[in-house]
Amino acid sequence: MGCQYFDPCAHGADSFTIAIPKVTFGRACLQEAGARARGLGMNRIALFTDPFIHDSAYLATVLDSLKQSGLDVAIFDEITIEADDASVERGAVFIAEGNFDGVVSVGGGSVMDTAKASMLYGLHPMGDFLDYFAPPLGAGKPIPSELLPHIACPTTSGTGSECTSISVLRINHLKTKFVLANPALMAQQALIDPACCASLPPEVVASTGFDLLCHALECYTAKAYTRWDKIDDPMKRPLIQGANPWSDLAARKALEIVGEYLDRGVNDATDEEARDQLMWGASLAGMAFGNSGTHLGHALSYGVTHLMHDVTTGGYTVKSPFVPHGISVAVSAPAIFRYTAEATPERHFEAASYLQSDLRGAAADDSGEVLARRIIDLMRKTGVPNGLSEVGFTADDVPALAASSARQVRAIANSPRETNLVDIENIYAAAISY
Ligand SMILES: [Fe+2]
Repeated sequence: MGCQYFDPCAHGADSFTIAIPKVTFGRACLQEAGARARGLGMNRIALFTDPFIHDSAYLATVLDSLKQSGLDVAIFDEITIEADDASVERGAVFIAEGNFDGVVSVGGGSVMDTAKASMLYGLHPMGDFLDYFAPPLGAGKPIPSELLPHIACPTTSGTGSECTSISVLRINHLKTKFVLANPALMAQQALIDPACCASLPPEVVASTGFDLLCHALECYTAKAYTRWDKIDDPMKRPLIQGANPWSDLAARKALEIVGEYLDRGVNDATDEEARDQLMWGASLAGMAFGNSGTHLGHALSYGVTHLMHDVTTGGYTVKSPFVPHGISVAVSAPAIFRYTAEATPERHFEAASYLQSDLRGAAADDSGEVLARRIIDLMRKTGVPNGLSEVGFTADDVPALAASSARQVRAIANSPRETNLVDIENIYAAAISY
């Protein structure tokens, strides 16, 4: 078949699965919320948002639309800026007691991820919160498929959660984040109105933009899906299935958008074209990595948020310590792609090209350096911290960072280059500053 351009491997997968919600994109499309909720058979809706968005014009638009469609709505906004188990436990009670037949979420990744997990725990309670999480953290118990229909409305341009089957949650007593991943967690519809990004501070556009960049870069450079073992049960094909023709398609366009618009979108809030494009790029990257998985960028970010020191990144009104997700991914990215390029130099070279890197005189063997330099260039232009040292880490922290991140087993295995604990330590050591 023409699209199967990945080299086959003995015992390797020969099929891939694509899952995305029905997507509506465009300015003012939040006005469609009521009609779309009705179309999904909703009558009584749990509306998830957070305290920062509660009084916003776009939440009012969604609320008006739902009410004009004759729908009954109850709001849940007790959500922290990084989704955590405490928010989910509160949300689960809200779902369990509310007699709802649908969910609408309006917010960033934290809101959408909390909505997904609250449905799961509210409708299918689990004695131990960690039981639904994959080992080694959890027991890997099966996630039931019967949740409520969900319309996800993102208000930032990075997470892509509106298009994924993933919920990333901080487990407070462990001070670390882990991923819940299951097809049941995907929203039925995504309603993406880029006007929501108009008032975002530059630091937030930069952080979420680097999340988008790394989603796209990691899935474009991920291990090919044909290098994962073929599965016997098609219902058990994992979401982290490796790079495939679909994820390539969406990631390639998302990288082009970042290359063209990230600098503009961060540094000029009046640049509607750039902010619209970044919103589209974030959803594309979500559709990409949601069907391929990320790899070392995200795996190594979890060590940073687990062990973060007394530092708060600018642009967020959050108590210290706090490193936003996109920054936790960005600070190690140049070192990671310098490391992974050896495995698939052509792919890294192509990615550098999509990002509008300076390729004069460069060949595929230079791809790791070329790509790293372009990422650093974008970090400088958008005010992103220049490596781990600018979010409070020193070389002394490297062993602990590596030990923490090494628990992200499946994501690390999705790297194009086989990676062990010493490799992870070396990457962190190279990421102190650029
Ligand atoms: Fe991410």
